[in-house]
Amino acid sequence: MAQLFTPAATTLFRVVIVLTGLGLVGAGVTAYLWARADSTWNVGKPAPQPVPFRHDLHAGQLSIDCRYCHSTVERAADAGMPSAQTCMSCHSQVWVGASVLDPVRSSFTLGQPIRWTSVHRLPEYAYFHHAAHVTKGVACETCHGRVDQMAETVKTETLSMGWCLDCHRDPVPNLRPREAVFAMGYEPHGDELPEDVREFYREASRRLTSCNTCHR
Ligand code: HEC
Ligand code: HEC
Ligand code: HEC
Ligand code: HEC
Ligand code: HEC
Repeated sequence: MAQLFTPAATTLFRVVIVLTGLGLVGAGVTAYLWARADSTWNVGKPAPQPVPFRHDLHAGQLSIDCRYCHSTVERAADAGMPSAQTCMSCHSQVWVGASVLDPVRSSFTLGQPIRWTSVHRLPEYAYFHHAAHVTKGVACETCHGRVDQMAETVKTETLSMGWCLDCHRDPVPNLRPREAVFAMGYEPHGDELPEDVREFYREASRRLTSCNTCHR
């Protein structure tokens, strides 16, 4: 039987197949790296804010408790944001005339909330609950980093689904005693947790990784 294709055509055909294969693998690798890259998730990127509020000064140097400004973090899904009134409890006495505080004073006078720009917003279809974590020994620092050292507030973690699941599969190494939940620079003592807590999370990880825990 006569050859259907010339040898040159066969070679070309092979080259095309190999290149297509490599191209697909390359596209896959690129997509994977893109999805994992911090820049894709705006990690470390501050947002423009109406007032140049500094955590390093207020939560760091002045050691104001997180709950003074994020007052519902132990009770509700939302951590809560400070009202202008909360700022004015001090700023009616310090930095009184400072123009950087103009938006705070006008919000206070008008009784309107200050419009902070969130750097942590999850999409609508993902459900998160602060109290569920904070009351079980997951610390602010574990998810938000060294907020007490931030001059501008940024994300330190992607907050992607993969990130949530990494912990939900085995939370134990990330748990702290309740009283250390607000501490910064603390080393988790997961190894020291009692056996019944470990046992509980071996069971609970199935519930914590099921879709309707976070998509309801
Ligand atoms: C418990 C008291 C207290 C509260 C509450 C407070 N601040 Fe302050 N803030 C201070 C003090 C004290 C300074 C001045 C520190 C200095 O001058 O060294 C300051 C400084 C500032 C500055 C100037 C920072 C700089 O150096 O550039 C801004 C802006 C500011 N605060 C915004 C706010 C906002 C917004 C709120 C409310 C969310 C708030 N503060 C709540 C005590 C407070
Ligand atoms: C004096 C008030 C005050 C205190 C104390 C304070 N915060 Fe904040 N926090 C704010 C304000 C105002 C913003 C909004 C402006 C910004 O993002 O910097 C904010 C924003 C945040 C955000 C980002 C919110 C978002 O929507 O992306 C996180 C996370 C946060 N704070 C965590 C903490 C933690 C953890 C502590 C304790 C270590 C703390 N804060 C203490 C006032 C405060
Ligand atoms: C398990 C991880 C985790 C822990 C622990 C955690 N947060 Fe958050 N935080 C998040 C996520 C995720 C969001 C975004 C929530 C959303 O968009 O629904 C968020 C949002 C916030 C916000 C913005 C306002 C809001 O509620 O949406 C503030 C303020 C905040 N966190 C403060 C804190 C403080 C203070 C603590 C410690 C007491 C803390 N968080 C502990 C993951 C965490
Ligand atoms: C560092 C560990 C950690 C991270 C990160 C984390 N979680 Fe959790 N999550 C926990 C623990 C621990 C619990 C409490 C489980 C229990 O004891 O019932 C929990 C509970 C929950 C609950 C309540 C479940 C229920 O059945 O009551 C929801 C919802 C949830 N997490 C959503 C999320 C989402 C969404 C993210 C990512 C944005 C996230 N979590 C990131 C550790 C974590
Ligand atoms: C611990 C919480 C958690 C669990 C459990 C979880 N998800 Fe998610 N999921 C998230 C969060 C947070 C996001 C938003 C961030 C992102 O896109 O990664 C998300 C995003 C998604 C998206 C949109 C992804 C995209 O790229 O736009 C899909 C689809 C999804 N989840 C499906 C699922 C399915 C199916 C399951 C069960 C096998 C599941 N999720 C379990 C937290 C969770």
